[in-house]
Amino acid sequence: MRAAFATAFNDADPLSVLEIGDAPEPAPQDGWAVVDVRASALNHHDLWSLRGVGLREEQLPMILGCDAAGIGPDGSEVVVYPVVYTEKGDFSILSEYYPGTVAERVTVPAYNLVPKPAELTFAEAACLPTAWLTAYRMLTTRGRLEADGSVLVQGAGGGVATAAVLLGTALGARVYATSRDAAKRERIAALGATAVEPGARLPERVDVVIETVGEATFEHSMKCAKTGGRIVVSGATSGHLPRVNLRRMFALQLEILGTSMGTPEELADLMALLARTGIRPIIDSVIPFSEARKAFELLHSGDVFGKVVLDHAQ
Ligand SMILES: NC(=O)c1ccc[n+]([C@@H]2O[C@H](COP(=O)([O-])OP(=O)(O)OC[C@H]3O[C@@H](n4cnc5c(N)ncnc54)[C@H](OP(=O)(O)O)[C@@H]3O)[C@@H](O)[C@H]2O)c1
Repeated sequence: MRAAFATAFNDADPLSVLEIGDAPEPAPQDGWAVVDVRASALNHHDLWSLRGVGLREEQLPMILGCDAAGIGPDGSEVVVYPVVYTEKGDFSILSEYYPGTVAERVTVPAYNLVPKPAELTFAEAACLPTAWLTAYRMLTTRGRLEADGSVLVQGAGGGVATAAVLLGTALGARVYATSRDAAKRERIAALGATAVEPGARLPERVDVVIETVGEATFEHSMKCAKTGGRIVVSGATSGHLPRVNLRRMFALQLEILGTSMGTPEELADLMALLARTGIRPIIDSVIPFSEARKAFELLHSGDVFGKVVLDHAQ
């Protein structure tokens, strides 16, 4: 079957070790299901895999991709939940230990198939399992954001952050967002957020801060949280060792909460929210699978706003 895979690692030039070609058919274990992939979506995770982050030489070639929607073994439309437990009981995301989703077919435990609501297209649904699920869990289960609450999203041009802005507004909250880039701030404001420069003073302190940037924004996140506020962390793009003002933390009874991905139930709840409210993931481009290299080049260029999706029918 055709697939996109890493053949080696190259930190300086990750696309040089990307191959689009023939890969072995997936071999499902007992209790696993094969999904006929209709659309997959790329993440920065795929570029990190090509650089060798999270993979070992002996795992090569590794099919890339964490996100997909397609047709399950019973003919129903499904979204693939990408977290799989390894034989050792470790937690792993597709393409880290088991082959990923940028392929004609992918195999996962049957438990990982989540029904796709008819309201969402395959392309839209394929955008959700990684960045959107992470953002949804950050706001809801971990952040406990209420409908009349307030949230600050740091580094709003990012994948998780853009999802958090859209979901925050869909959940009825007041959304503030920082971005270093004026053009991104304009686009974020058009999505319903109050967009400000990094470090700017907000009109109010917020209930929840969505942190994926790390060192560059963490001090600001601490200053912007109100008493009892929650700073929810799922990434540290700019560095993972920020200075934390512990006096402020205990005096304001702040909570700093780590989180990763989400559960299949949260993925189903997220899709129900989208079906109900009409909000949809922002898609930068849908690219035919036959031109898959272009999709990786686009992601690598950084010149994207929203998800890069591959249409597996073409
Ligand atoms: N734990 C999980 O389950 C999970 C899931 C998905 C992602 N992640 C992690 O979350 C992070 C974000 O992922 P993503 O896919 O959203 O990444 P992304 O699309 O690359 O976005 C990162 C954003 O961070 C901001 N940023 C980067 N460097 C910065 C700096 N030095 N100063 C200020 N802002 C900076 C930028 O926002 P502006 O340009 O707008 O300022 C950028 O758009 C990554 O570290 C990723 O590994 C974790």
